[in-house]
Formats: sequence, structure tokens, C-alpha cells
Amino acid sequence: MSEDKLESPESRRGFLTKLTGGLFGAGLLGGSWTFIRSLVPNVLYEPPQRFKIGDPEAYTAGVHFLDKHRLFLFREENSFHAISAVCSHLGCTVKFSPFKQLREMTVRKLSYRSRGEFRCACHGSHFRDEGTNYAGPAPRPLKWHELTRSPEDGQLVVDLAREVDRDFRLVV
Ligand code: FES
Repeated sequence: MSEDKLESPESRRGFLTKLTGGLFGAGLLGGSWTFIRSLVPNVLYEPPQRFKIGDPEAYTAGVHFLDKHRLFLFREENSFHAISAVCSHLGCTVKFSPFKQLREMTVRKLSYRSRGEFRCACHGSHFRDEGTNYAGPAPRPLKWHELTRSPEDGQLVVDLAREVDRDFRLVV
């Protein structure tokens, strides 16, 4: 009698219905969990926007490329300024090409002695050494970033979140 009951079509149908429902529920739960988990990344890594780059005395006169920060630091006697190496077209890193000798130049009504130019190898943009784009697809000049001195130890501090005008100079 009990064997008949176990093998009856109703009990088999009931078992299969529960099994199907269970599998469907598990699939739905798994899919939902994966979706919810994808909205919460494991690590939110964002490099610091403000950082120290060392003592002013550590930099000789001229142009220094800080590859870790994709930044050019210019020193002229006791004055410093920092220009981003991130191309304003699609973000490649520009390179600095020095001229053999300084050239007198007027760019955007500012006269100065140019020591070279920036070039982007990705799509051929060119920038003056004060960052103004003049050839290629780059739509904007390179950014100038704020430079200060740390009150604690006198090191140079760059703030990538703060842009400054191209006549900005930090005199130490
Ligand atoms: S990324 Fe520099 S020219 Fe395109």
C-alpha cells in the first residue's frame, strides 16, 4: 500500500513541482545576489589628488618628469610650476622635447622664453611648453596644477584637484 502511494503519479508530480520550484528559486536568488554584488565593488581605489613630491632643493633647474604622477615639474631659479602630462585629447602621456636653444615666444598675450614643446605620440598633438595646444586633435591646453609647500617639512605639494592659471609660480 505504501509503495503504491510513493509511486503514484500525484506524488511524483508533486515531487517534480517542488524540485522545479526549488531550482527556480535558487537560480533567482543566485542571479539576484550576483547583480547586487556587482553594484558594490570590493575596493574603491582612487589615487590621492594631493601629494608631496620632495624638497625643492632636490630639483635642479630645468624640466623634470614625474612619471608616477604623470606630471612635469619646471624649475627656473627659485620658481616652480607643474604641468600635467595627460594629453587633453584622449589622455595619453605627452613627452617633452627640448629646443636646442631658448626661443622668444608670445602665446595668448604672454611673452616668455620657450625651452621646448610637448608632443603626444598617440595622435600627434603638439603643445607649447606652457601647455597651449597648437597642432593635432587636442582640444584644450595641458592643465597646470597648484603647487604649495608643506608647512611641516617644506616639501613641494601638488594638488591635482586644483588647477591654476599658467602665470602661476611658486617661489621658494
Ligand atoms: S591622446 Fe594625445 S593626441 Fe590623442
